[in-house]
Amino acid sequence: MGKDVIIACDFSSAKDTFDFLDKFTEEKPFVKIGMELYYAEGPSIVREIKKRGHKIFLDLKLHDIPNTVKKAMSVLSSLDVDMTNLHAAGTIDMMKAAVEGLTKADGTRPILIAVTQLTSTSEERMQNELLINASINDTIVKYAENAKAAGLDGVVCSPLEAGMVKEACSKEFITVTPGVRFADGEVGDQVRVTTPERAKEIGSDYIVVGRPVTQVADPVAAYRRCCKEFIG
Ligand code: C5P
Repeated sequence: MGKDVIIACDFSSAKDTFDFLDKFTEEKPFVKIGMELYYAEGPSIVREIKKRGHKIFLDLKLHDIPNTVKKAMSVLSSLDVDMTNLHAAGTIDMMKAAVEGLTKADGTRPILIAVTQLTSTSEERMQNELLINASINDTIVKYAENAKAAGLDGVVCSPLEAGMVKEACSKEFITVTPGVRFADGEVGDQVRVTTPERAKEIGSDYIVVGRPVTQVADPVAAYRRCCKEFIG
């Protein structure tokens, strides 16, 4: 499995997204489309970006009853995305239904990964508000194991958790990790951050990078720097 850098295209319109992607004349980066852009523009944004030759991670984090998730995943699969995701909190039955819905008639399907605990959820809130009495790390490992048992390919997690997940699930179990910053860059609102180089050492398979690439004067140079540090 190849390591890759995924650019989080957190733009609110197709125009802003294409203005950004037009800067890339030599490479076709793997892009992440999140809720903001998808809800603003609908499935056409996925088709348009796909037509331009980019791989797409559709980050919609599904979480509903198994039958609904299965049907929704079938729709996403027909959009021909390369990767998509759901919340592991929906249980193993929901994740199995998602795999079924996502699988095409020829047996192929996009990579499916699970969100374990959002990095915005603190251990304290998880315990006090959700009444989960385990540590947050035990929850992350258990949710990753559930995702594996349901037949998923991996999880989204902090780069700092990637090693722990690989150890519990297997080296082949994919880790997709946001929270990446250059050593000399701004951290912004991210708390537990790592450089692309360190993410590589810890064992991330894909890093998701947003503002360090999208909000700088030379996005192409920043993207190339990410690739150089992460892939080598
Ligand atoms: O701009 P930045 O590099 O912080 O963007 C990171 C991207 O990864 C954003 O799209 C954010 O929503 C997403 N993400 C994250 N942390 C998670 C899950 C997703 O930062 N735990």
